[in-house]
Amino acid sequence: MRLGGTMGTVANDMRIQALTDRDDYWARAAAVIDWHTPWDRVLDDSQAPFYKWYAGAELNTCYNAVDRHVAAGRGDQTAIQYVSPVTNSELAISYRELQLHVSKLAGYLHSIGVEKGDRVVIYMPMIPDTAYAMLACARIGAIHSVVFGGFAANELATRINDAKPKALISASCGIEPSGVVEYKPLLDAALEQASHKVEHCLVLNRPQCQAQMQTGRDHDWDSVVPQAPQIGCVPVAATDPLYILYTSGTTGQPKGVVRDNGGHAVALAWSMKHVYDINPGDVFWAASDVGWVVGHSYIVYGPLLVGATSLLFEGKPVGTPDAGTFWRVINQYGVKSFFTAPTAIRAIKREDPDGEFIKGINLDCLGSLFLAGERCDPDTLNWAHEKLGKPVIDHWWQTETGWPVAANLMGTDPVPVKPGSPAQAVPGYQVEVLDESGEQVAANTSGNVVIKLPLPPGTLTTLWGNDQRYRDSYLSMYEGYYLTGDAGYLDEDGYLYIMSRIDDIINVAGHRLSTGRFEEVLCQHDAVAEAAVIGVEDKLKGQLPLGLVVLRNGTNISEAQLQQELIALVRSEIGPVAAFRLVTAIPKLPKTRSGKILRGTMRQIAAHQPLKIPATIEDPMTLELVKEALARLGYK
Ligand code: COA
Ligand code: AMP
Repeated sequence: MRLGGTMGTVANDMRIQALTDRDDYWARAAAVIDWHTPWDRVLDDSQAPFYKWYAGAELNTCYNAVDRHVAAGRGDQTAIQYVSPVTNSELAISYRELQLHVSKLAGYLHSIGVEKGDRVVIYMPMIPDTAYAMLACARIGAIHSVVFGGFAANELATRINDAKPKALISASCGIEPSGVVEYKPLLDAALEQASHKVEHCLVLNRPQCQAQMQTGRDHDWDSVVPQAPQIGCVPVAATDPLYILYTSGTTGQPKGVVRDNGGHAVALAWSMKHVYDINPGDVFWAASDVGWVVGHSYIVYGPLLVGATSLLFEGKPVGTPDAGTFWRVINQYGVKSFFTAPTAIRAIKREDPDGEFIKGINLDCLGSLFLAGERCDPDTLNWAHEKLGKPVIDHWWQTETGWPVAANLMGTDPVPVKPGSPAQAVPGYQVEVLDESGEQVAANTSGNVVIKLPLPPGTLTTLWGNDQRYRDSYLSMYEGYYLTGDAGYLDEDGYLYIMSRIDDIINVAGHRLSTGRFEEVLCQHDAVAEAAVIGVEDKLKGQLPLGLVVLRNGTNISEAQLQQELIALVRSEIGPVAAFRLVTAIPKLPKTRSGKILRGTMRQIAAHQPLKIPATIEDPMTLELVKEALARLGYK
């Protein structure tokens, strides 16, 4: 492991302790959590690579996030501060109120037969009730699986089929700048498509839209939850799953990342203090969505586990109503640490390049701005730093890890910021960069970014119902290492630089999407014989998907109509979040002689990188066809 330079001595000591005295280190970290039964072993590695943190222990995550704060006298403190510029409303929910909402909802779920280990799919917008739903599941030991609202019915159906939930919790609508987005028709379509039949749907009718309810299956939240009995917290094993969160893999079938209860609670509480500098009573804001891992870890569980106030924001960085929203909200609610995606800062910078909105606002409360979800280009980081006059902290992690792998420990031992780098490995993670043969590369040399096993607490335990895919996807390339899927390098001070993905995953406005899934959808069109999708650079969203399709022989369709139909198809099958607008027909795709599409070479052409043409290319002329197609779409 390459450790930090002259700065970061405390962090270095922590890294060494977490490595050499691992069990003791994580036992001490676990002291901030209330356990129902203590553990037998801090780390049970007897079934490696399926590691079990805090084996033998029992706890309840909801108890730790809610009830114990009420018991400790924090009942009147705001637990969730909801701010919704899109509905022009706000609401402060105290820990005591949160306990009431969650215990009733848990009571209702129990009354319809949801028990420990049952799955509950949650398809909801950014409202406090979504957090209640997650916590209510945790309270009774049910496993929630939140699906992001920007996904289409088909994506929801895929997740329903995989998770096989007993119940589904939804709302009548989400509110986007474009207007009210009805969720219920999407929900009904998904349930229609899914082969797994869901017995109960609980639907929260928002004032903006009333959902059409199906008798027997659908239940109106406001009619059933308020009169449900309050129910207490059920102890679960530390190793029992808390949630499943689906994320894009390289195939169209998403991966169900499984998170446990015990390791998750310890890791998140550790990170709130050490990474984000958040202590009980502080205000923390992650401007993301509960449908993503950032929302799970840092809108719901992390801040609540440490007794902080979590700000839950239903709006956008720009347009709701303007590029000053973030700064006004930080000032108004006294936000100490703020987390968003670089794309949000790029959107603000585009609308307000001189930071006029920032100038009149007192941001004394703000300690640092944290950025993650995609690579943060130095221009964006420098702009935010200059305009805010605050540390801007890039940090790197994934749905799979659940909490930061590389970060500047702002609550412990900040090190100098190097723009372009998410700083150094967080204690507990042994990050290395390996070449194709598994050798560690020299400093400043690119390779595959890996983490030595065992991963620390709070990271994925497996993929839902698919241990083999877990092994194949993450553990098979290098014995004893977890493959992150990212490529990058470490510098001589142990600063990590994440440069790109090594697989077919793209990152659109901080949203992780699979090009394989786009290709599957494009091939559903009658006119399309074959499709290749790559990520191309975009100044706002980081990357955008770009599709090249080969038409079936004898197809007669204009380019304009083809584009219109394919864009609509992707929107209806994957969802608006795909932001798919770039597509054109091409006579032939570049392939190897064995028929493998040369997506990497296509990406190099689109990015104007030096071309490494494989010797096995079937027809070099196809590269000219790609150049022409890209030029038609504005990527010359
Ligand atoms: N429910 C329904 N639709 C949703 C949705 C949701 N929860 N979230 C997004 N969408 C829709 C949007 O309305 C938009 O639809 P449109 O094509 O009809 O306009 C589409 O999905 C794309 O949304 P988005 O990615 O938000 O892009 P945008 O162009 O509306 O806004 C930004 C651009 C940069 C402002 C926006 O992407 C942003 O705030 N990004 C922050 C990223 C982030 O938080 N990432 C999470 C990981 S940390
Ligand atoms: P997700 O699982 O959706 O959180 O996406 C995780 C992926 O986003 C990572 O594997 C990276 O490819 C990318 N990513 C997240 N944060 C960063 C960052 N700070 N710098 C570079 N890439 C990042």
